[in-house]
This record gives sequence, C-alpha cells and structure tokens, in this order.
Amino acid sequence: MKTIGVLTSGGDSPGMNAAVRAVVRKAIYHNLNVYGIYQGYAGLMAGNFKKLELGSVGDIIHRGGTMLYTARSEEFKTLEGQHSGIEQLNKHGVEGLVVIGGDGSYRGAQKLTEHGFPCIGLPGTIDNDIAGTDYTIGFNTALHTVIDAIDKIRDTATSHERTFIIEVMGRHAGDIALWAGLAGGAETIIIPEIDFKLEDVVGRIKSGQKRGKKHTIIVLAEGVSNGMDFAKLIERETSLETRVSVLGHIQRGGTPTAFDRVLASRLGGRAVELLIEGKGGRAVGMEQNRIVDYSFDEVFSKPHHIDETMYRLSQELSI
Ligand code: F6P
Repeated sequence: MKTIGVLTSGGDSPGMNAAVRAVVRKAIYHNLNVYGIYQGYAGLMAGNFKKLELGSVGDIIHRGGTMLYTARSEEFKTLEGQHSGIEQLNKHGVEGLVVIGGDGSYRGAQKLTEHGFPCIGLPGTIDNDIAGTDYTIGFNTALHTVIDAIDKIRDTATSHERTFIIEVMGRHAGDIALWAGLAGGAETIIIPEIDFKLEDVVGRIKSGQKRGKKHTIIVLAEGVSNGMDFAKLIERETSLETRVSVLGHIQRGGTPTAFDRVLASRLGGRAVELLIEGKGGRAVGMEQNRIVDYSFDEVFSKPHHIDETMYRLSQELSI
C-alpha cells in the first residue's frame, strides 16, 4: 500500500478533524501518500481529491466540524455511483480508504469493500448509535454542549417554576438524552429504546411539585417525539406552564473535548495500521478502553443497546 484516501461523510461531529489529522499523520509517518477527499461520497464521485501533507492537518485538532466537508449522498447508494467512486480512486492511485462517519457512511464503505476496494470505517457521529464501539467520535462533546444548555435552562426554569422539555438529537438512539439527562439531573428522560407511560411522567411531575420542587426538566430524544407535541400533552395533563427548547444543531458543533480528541486519534491511527496490514472491510472502535475492529457485517448485525441500568438509576435519583 502506497497511497490511501480519507473522507468524512454524513452528519459532522466534533473530533472528526482530530481523526483526519491522525489518519494523515500516521500515514505519512509510515511513508504513505494521503489524499483528502472533499464533500464525502459526493466528492469521491466528483473527483474532489487533494494530496495532504503534514501541514495540511496542522491547527485542526481543536476545531469542530470537518476540514474535508461532508455530505449525504443518495447517488452513492446506486451501483453506478459506487463504480464511479472506484474509478476516481483508481485514477488517483488510491489503494485504501478511511471513511469517518455514521451508519450510512459505513454502508457505503461496505459496498466499496464488496467491490474489491478496501475501506476502514471510523465511527464519527454524535449519536453514539454504532455497534462495536462504546463511544462514537463526537458523542462526548455533544453531551457537554447539552449539559451546558440544561444547566442554563434549569436557572430560568426554577425562577419561573416551569416545566421544560429539552429536545435533543440522536436520530433513533437515546444515548444523548440518557447520558445528558443523568448528568444534568433531569426529572424524566424519554428515549426510543424504553417505552414510557404518560401517566408516569405526569405522576413524577406532580409528586416533585408536592415535595416543593421548583421546576421539572424533561429530556426528550428526538426519536420519540417532537418537543412541541410532547409539551402540549404535558400541559393538557398537568395545566402547568411548559416551555420547549429544541437544542438542534448546536449539539453538532464546538471544540471537541479531550476525550473525543484522544478517541479520534487512537481510532485514526489504528485505521491506517489495518490498511498497512492489508485489511479492509473493518470498522474500528473502542471497547473497555481497548481499540478493536469488526467486520461491517458484524457491526450491522449487533443491535444497538442502551444501558438500562443507567436509565433506572436516573429514575431513582430524580424521585
Ligand atoms: O446523525 C447525526 C444527526 O445530528 C442526528 O442526531 C440528527 O437526527 C441528524 O443528524 C440531523 O441531520 P441534518 O443535519 O441532515 O438535519
């Protein structure tokens, strides 16, 4: 292997830059050439390649977003799209590719590998919804952003004695809501993985009020419901003044935490090693602080699990 490529795809996440930097620097350390492929799979098909040097990835480890830009591409889901991507890779002499992204990005990487082009996946998404890793790159930073918001909302919620619904991202996964809810001391956490009863939520609000709680914070995962709809239900059942805060895309930006930078660096380094070892079709992750890799099939076949003990604990702590 003499030349590799790296791209970022799907929703960006803080720490993607640190992962790109690790891939580029590790590859150059091992005397490989590296191409950055801009705008994800769309850029791959369009031939948006640029040779990266050590200095190309200087001063990015602390920046959110991705210097390679990103995109979601429908065209790359087609056979023609995948073939034109491989044509571009061959044209530039690229022999292996590191794809940093979420579930959809992994599916693209798996397709390329099936067509004979070795790809390695790195889990870059705030959602923490990829199997084969305890944490995805960006999840930790997003949590810090959400907690910062919850802390601020708590101040005004207390002053006005209001109920707040805080809607957080996560697509179909409840990890952001669960972790941020526990860390932010939310009274109720609502996630797609665990069914809830409206009467229980209302009961918790009322019993909190009885013992003098000045506010209620409900962290709602976007995969369950829209915050506004949920607030209407709560107002109808409790007659309490309820406000909604949809945190939205601020969760995707910002300076990556030390944890995300270290995770990204470790995973990026391992991705290059795997390509040098002649391996493709692997997704790199971290489990119990060890760097691991699995085939894309293994990753897709493992269901995403939420830590139910954490959920129960959050309920016990917020009685
Ligand atoms: O997958 C990351 C994510 O931020 C999800 O949490 C969210 O549902 C989605 O992307 C939003 O995507 P977009 O930026 O395309 O609106």
